[in-house]
Amino acid sequence: MTYIVGDSCIKCKLMDCVEVCPVDCFYEGENMLVIHPDECIDCGVCEPECPVEAIKPDTEQSLEKWAELNAKYAALWPNITVKREPPADSKDWEGKQGKEALFSPNPGQGD
Ligand code: SF4
Ligand code: F3S
Repeated sequence: MTYIVGDSCIKCKLMDCVEVCPVDCFYEGENMLVIHPDECIDCGVCEPECPVEAIKPDTEQSLEKWAELNAKYAALWPNITVKREPPADSKDWEGKQGKEALFSPNPGQGD
């Protein structure tokens, strides 16, 4: 199994998760992060670190689409291991529905 970043991360992008991952398997897009499924060791440490509960184990229902998205973009985006300032409007997006439509396929800056 692996852990997966879901749509709650979009535009919140708090980056608390990257600081705790023992294997540095987070990858950065323009407005969210993803986890590399082949690098994640399923330790679960990141799940409670995300303030908007965007990180879930892939054993949860209805995450197939996000599992595919994490795998696809982890191979394309740069690695991130150091937290930076979240977007200035990060708080405004907490708990918002329909963020999936705002997903950006563009890469983030990485470390
Ligand atoms: Fe990293 Fe562990 Fe989270 Fe996987 S479950 S992304 S290894 S902190
Ligand atoms: Fe996203 Fe939560 Fe990490 S908002 S960047 S999964 S701490």
